[in-house]
Amino acid sequence: MSTEQSADGRPATAPSELTREQIEKLEDIYGNRYLLEPAPDGKLPKMGMTADEAMGLVQQETVLDGLPNRNLATFVTTWMEPQAEQVIQESLRVNFIDHAEYPRSAEIEQRCVRMLADLFNAPGETTGTRTQGSSEAIMLGALSLKWKWRARREAAGKSVDRPNMVFGGDVHVVWEKFCRYFDVEPRIVPLQPDKYTIDAQDVEPHVDENTIGVAAVLGTTFTGHADDIRGINDYLVGLKEQGLDVPLHVDAASGGFVWPFLYPHSEWDFRLEQVRSINVSGHKFGLVYPGIGWLIFREKDDLPEDLVFYENYLGKRDATFTLNFSTGASMVLAQYYNFARLGHAGYRYVMETMKYNARTLAKEIAACDLEVVGKEEDEQLPLVAFKLMGEHPYDEFDVAAQLAADQGWMVPAYTLPPKAEHVKIMRVLVKQTLGHSLTTCLGEDIAQACATLQARGQGLHPKDRERRVKTNTGF
Ligand SMILES: Cc1ncc(COP(=O)(O)O)c(C=O)c1O
Repeated sequence: MSTEQSADGRPATAPSELTREQIEKLEDIYGNRYLLEPAPDGKLPKMGMTADEAMGLVQQETVLDGLPNRNLATFVTTWMEPQAEQVIQESLRVNFIDHAEYPRSAEIEQRCVRMLADLFNAPGETTGTRTQGSSEAIMLGALSLKWKWRARREAAGKSVDRPNMVFGGDVHVVWEKFCRYFDVEPRIVPLQPDKYTIDAQDVEPHVDENTIGVAAVLGTTFTGHADDIRGINDYLVGLKEQGLDVPLHVDAASGGFVWPFLYPHSEWDFRLEQVRSINVSGHKFGLVYPGIGWLIFREKDDLPEDLVFYENYLGKRDATFTLNFSTGASMVLAQYYNFARLGHAGYRYVMETMKYNARTLAKEIAACDLEVVGKEEDEQLPLVAFKLMGEHPYDEFDVAAQLAADQGWMVPAYTLPPKAEHVKIMRVLVKQTLGHSLTTCLGEDIAQACATLQARGQGLHPKDRERRVKTNTGF
């Protein structure tokens, strides 16, 4: 290092390059060790670093993640009010499962369960639980169906070795996961080239005495529409009258917080006799950050006692019905915050706003050479699913990649499940962070991406597409 300095402390002559040792000495003052070293990986580092350095390391790297507000692929909440964030922040140290130590958090969970049971028109007092998300809720709900089916079969002296579950190809992957993890035969009703949800006629050929239940979706991951839940219920009621009781579980992961506010007269919930359980994601249209789902039973008796575990090692006899054990209380409290803050009118306002903006975007998209999936009058999640019309030298995956390259929008492109797998779709979730001016901007960006591809006369290089396009459907 040059030793000559002018009066203001700056070097008088051009300094020579610092050696590695000199830089390392300066790290003590400037705290930038992570800039010069590979990120810890493979092994715990021998020595740690200062708190500021560790924070800098994590923050620098995650800058390369997409911006949540530009993530139009996700159903999950990407924005909450500062007051909600404060509630979350203040409860980060609370382990929700310590019911004896944190009894108010446990009580607040039960309040949420009761409010949801009421929202879903449960006929009387019932039970339910918070979960990590809809996936855990579905596993627990479907396990309950399996237990109940087995009890019915055993009581009738019948075999219990070949349980099956019936659902459409329009379900989220979690349903196949459940079947594989818990040894149940999946009977998947294929979609049709121009019909992306299922109804009673589709279900009928697959149901028999070994069917533990039928699952129907309220707001599919693929296009945001609902299965014909009422029709399926009516068919199952008819079966029950003939002596075969096959319950219905509604996967309302997304729709459970949309339908009650946008389509209150549409019957899909416990108003229908065979609907025995419902799951909903608090972290989707419940408007809470990731890590909260709910499972609600029609009646207490729909939860088999055998699936509830009792222990007392947390200081008090306690009952748990979960796949996980320890988990934060923050998202339960944040859900309760939203219920108290928004109320029925507030949720309705938010959902109507999203629907309005989704319609605006759908009109913009329809004005380009694109076809919106579904009709304006359809009951649907606040999203726009769309595809190209006619022949083009590029496809939906190219449009998604071009949008990502031009503006950083994360819009997924994917193909539909079997027998509609030739259909390619793009989908934009219109949430609270996509207001009127941004939807207009996005509409223009989509038009521009198509124009760019048209002018180029071909799609993107497959490698570019692969790198940029999000192909997951369920988030
Ligand atoms: C219909 C449906 N069911 C289940 C899930 C899984 O939900 P979670 O991510 O809350 O586990 C999703 C997620 O997108 C979904 O859309």
